Amino acid sequence: MDPAQESAAGGRKRRRRGGARNRRKASSSSQKAPQPAAAAPPPPPSPPAKRRRKDGTGHAAAATPKRRRNTSSVLDGLRARLSGGHFRMLNETLYTCSGRDAFDYFKENPSFFDVYHTGYQEQMSHWPEQPVNIIINWLKSHNASWSVADFGCGNAAVAKNVENKVFSIDLVSDDPSVIACDMAHTPLETSSVDVAIFCLSLMGTNYPSYLEEANRVLKPSGWLVIAEVRSRLDPNNGGADPQKFSKAIIQLGFSLVSKDAKNKMFVLFYFRKKEKSKAAKSIDWPQLKPCLYKRR
Ligand SMILES: C[S@@+](CC[C@H](N)C(=O)[O-])C[C@H]1O[C@@H](n2cnc3c(N)ncnc32)[C@H](O)[C@@H]1O
Repeated sequence: MDPAQESAAGGRKRRRRGGARNRRKASSSSQKAPQPAAAAPPPPPSPPAKRRRKDGTGHAAAATPKRRRNTSSVLDGLRARLSGGHFRMLNETLYTCSGRDAFDYFKENPSFFDVYHTGYQEQMSHWPEQPVNIIINWLKSHNASWSVADFGCGNAAVAKNVENKVFSIDLVSDDPSVIACDMAHTPLETSSVDVAIFCLSLMGTNYPSYLEEANRVLKPSGWLVIAEVRSRLDPNNGGADPQKFSKAIIQLGFSLVSKDAKNKMFVLFYFRKKEKSKAAKSIDWPQLKPCLYKRR
């Protein structure tokens, strides 16, 4: 099975276990996730119960250095599990709500963005190859004067690693070079960029509106580069039909130049906007299932 993803069944099992309690918590919290939302982050751990002396005096035994070390590693483990759980909740939220709801949610809780990205980087560290690096190398092998829009830039790795002018876009930013917005509605000028990138960022339930926005800001003949999690485009695994996905983008006004499906974890698409592009009146967009991560 795909090592970075859990099966839908596994996800359902875990949701059932904590379901009622977490749902109650979510509804009373001011940090409520947008609907449909995953469970609220688990509560902080209670302090470990005091150990009693075996002699029955009731005095807590003095911790030996070894015991202290054990306690702190247990606490570190608990902290890591809590933040892992919080990451998975945020990830599921991003995949199951609209970009607008995600934007409002992270605007209200900006610190969750760091929680999400710490967990995301941890998950990605288990992937043998990072799609963002392939895109960076692709850009480096083309034209440094091209302007680029990186939709859902995360930690802005593209901007940090190429000479091109990059407009980095994401929901939240403490980095002034990143445009914080819902990428369905960016402040970029119409027909202003040569390349639009979506590296694992077609997350919202309204993902077609992100591609429509990319179409608006791309110049004629501009490139649309998409990296998506393989299982989301694998019909044998409950994913969408990749042909249907490509066809919808072609109907938007693009030509498919190449597709790279040799990586086990993700698929890359390179589209080019037609010189005279006109989107079809009605496009049959396939639904993309959420990509949920396994507990490690
Ligand atoms: C899986 S991360 C990938 C980050 C980066 N592209 C990379 O490859 O390292 C997806 C990113 O898309 C962003 N994102 C998702 N929906 C968005 C939206 N509607 N508007 C802006 N950013 C969005 C998330 O906040 C997240 O940072």
